[in-house]
Amino acid sequence: MDWITDTAYRYIIYKIFSKYRSPTDKTILTTEFMSSDGWIKNPHGVKKHLLTIKTKSNIQTIAQIFWGNLENLIKTAQDIQKMQIFNWIELNIGCPSPKVMKLGWWSALMKDPSKAARIIMQLAKSINLPFSIKTRTGFNSTTKGQRFDTLVNIAPFVSMITIHWRTYSQWHSGDVDRNFIYSLKEKVKNKVLIIWNWGITSYDQALSKKENLDWIAIGRGAIGNPWIITPYTPSPEEKKDTMIKHFYLMLKTQDYFKTTIKSPANKPFLNPSLKSILHSPISHDNKATIEFRKHFMSYIKGHPKASQLRAEISKIYDYKKLISFLSSF
Ligand SMILES: Cc1cc2nc3c(=O)[nH]c(=O)nc-3n(C[C@H](O)[C@H](O)[C@H](O)COP(=O)(O)O)c2cc1C
Repeated sequence: MDWITDTAYRYIIYKIFSKYRSPTDKTILTTEFMSSDGWIKNPHGVKKHLLTIKTKSNIQTIAQIFWGNLENLIKTAQDIQKMQIFNWIELNIGCPSPKVMKLGWWSALMKDPSKAARIIMQLAKSINLPFSIKTRTGFNSTTKGQRFDTLVNIAPFVSMITIHWRTYSQWHSGDVDRNFIYSLKEKVKNKVLIIWNWGITSYDQALSKKENLDWIAIGRGAIGNPWIITPYTPSPEEKKDTMIKHFYLMLKTQDYFKTTIKSPANKPFLNPSLKSILHSPISHDNKATIEFRKHFMSYIKGHPKASQLRAEISKIYDYKKLISFLSSF
């Protein structure tokens, strides 16, 4: 998720999953989407989306890309493959942003099913890594049948399809169509992994919705709740401790990015150890301190003093003050 599943948050989720996972579960973490046109024109401007802290266990990670003509998408996917950081590459063709839709990408690409299928097949063939797509159930309710058929045709060429089961015109609200996804899995069988995406708010709910599907993708339910991919419920103290670690890692990741990757003197290095992130010099700007507010608001949902805490954090601009605020409430 854009502005949410950045380097720091993916690492926090990885740590929590490693500690509290159910032994039979696997997880895949997905980056924020990255524009392939941006990558081709100005990689420095977008490479922060790919920055991924090295992990000991072999957790799977998807680099998600969008936009771009086919040439740019292929070059971006091949560049990502060469980095040897990610296990999957995913094309986002489900986002409903009107600005991008006007240009013909994201959900708009699926308006022309044969063009979409051509792009997906060529992109998939251009890399050796597993390739996946993230999409919706249709452009509007009248195109759902066509979308179903397109996905069935594409299935042999991709490794995984994640479906947010609203149409583009439903945006983020309106009735969802559960049958679409279960029937699609029934139809494609083992040709491709089919993933449910929408509305999961707890680990148990994820298990109960899985039915014949392969995986469950969780978006908003993971904001402020990195434990959602485990059966574990944290104590208030542990939640606070995680918040502090999350913020500190966000701060240090931004420092690392500024001092190491953006510096023209240094070779880009997108898969650092935790140690090199933590040892980056503090850059003393307040970007991470301000950006952490959105996570904090989600972490404290349901807290009896939530509105007072929200008002207090909105006045904090200094990272040290934020750490002491997070330790004290
Ligand atoms: C803040 C925000 C950012 C998002 N960014 C992305 C993104 O970068 N890539 C993507 O595939 N979906 C993105 N989405 C959509 C979610 O991945 C997901 O499809 C949608 O929220 C529905 O699932 P949920 O009910 O589990 O949240 C974003 C959603 C939100 C709320």
